Amino acid sequence: MPAKIIDGKKVAEKFLKDINKNIKQSKEKPGLAIVLVGKNPASEIYVNFKEKKAREVGLYFKRFNLDKNVSQDGLLRIIDDINQNRKIHGVIVQLPLPDQIDETLVVDSILPHKDADGFTPVNLGSLVNDDNRLVPATARACLELIKSTGQKIAGKNAVVVGRSTIVGKPTALLLLQENATVTVCHSKTKNLKEHTKNADILVVACGKAKLIKKDMVKPGAIVIDVGINRTPNGLVGDVDFDGVKEVAGYITPVPGGVGPMTIAMLLDNTLNAMEIGKGVRF
Ligand code: GUN
Repeated sequence: MPAKIIDGKKVAEKFLKDINKNIKQSKEKPGLAIVLVGKNPASEIYVNFKEKKAREVGLYFKRFNLDKNVSQDGLLRIIDDINQNRKIHGVIVQLPLPDQIDETLVVDSILPHKDADGFTPVNLGSLVNDDNRLVPATARACLELIKSTGQKIAGKNAVVVGRSTIVGKPTALLLLQENATVTVCHSKTKNLKEHTKNADILVVACGKAKLIKKDMVKPGAIVIDVGINRTPNGLVGDVDFDGVKEVAGYITPVPGGVGPMTIAMLLDNTLNAMEIGKGVRF
C-alpha cells in the first residue's frame, strides 16, 4: 500500500490558527524582526514566506535588508538595536551570512530570550538539558509532523541523516526526549543503508537531492524529508519521493511538508519568546 502523505500545509494551518487566536487575545502585539544580509535567492524566498505568514497571523513585523558588504560591527550594532527594541520579541538573522561575518559571533549576540530560531548556546544547551526554552523551528516541525501521524514514538528506532546544529542535532535531541532510540548518520557514516533500513522513523536533513532510495527504507516507516534542493527538474527533497512512497507508511512531500510547518513553529517561537521575555515562563 502506498504511503500516506503528511500534509505539512494542513498541519501548519492548525498551528497558525491558534497563533492568530493567541495574538488577538494578547494585550501586547508580539513582534518579529528578520535580518537578511545580501541577496541570496534561496534566503530571499524563505524570508519572503516568513514575512508573509508573520503578517497574516497578525504579528508586528520588521525586516532589515542589509547590503552584502555590511561589516560585522555594522551587523552587530543592528542586532544590538533590535535587542533593545521593546516592540520586538523575537529576531532571526537569516543564514548563511557572507564570508566577512563570523556567524557564531552574530548568533551569540542575540539575546537568548529573543532568539526565535533557538540557535544561541543558551537555547541549544537547554535542549541538551531537557529544559526546553526556544527550540529550533525545523526540529519542532519534524517532531510535530511525526506526531501528526498518531504513531507512538517511544521505543521506536529513529534515524536522523544529517548532523547540522540547526536541524539534525536538535531533531535528534527532541526524538530522544520522546524516548525514541536515536541514531545520527552523516557524511562519514559507513553503509548508510544499514542504518536507514532499520528506522521506524527516518528524518533526512543532509542537503543531497534524492539520496534516500526505496531500498533504504523499512516498510511502513515514517519518513520526514527536510531537504529542499533546486535541480533542473525543479525542487526535490533529500528523499526519492516517488520510489520511497511505495514502501513507507507515511511521508512528507517537498514542497508542502516540513517547509510550511517550520514557518508555523518559528511564529509560535515568537509568541514563546514574548512570554519568556516577560518572565511568564522559561
Ligand atoms: N537558513 C536556513 N534555514 C534557516 C533557519 O531556520 N533560520 C535561519 N536563521 N536561517 C536559516
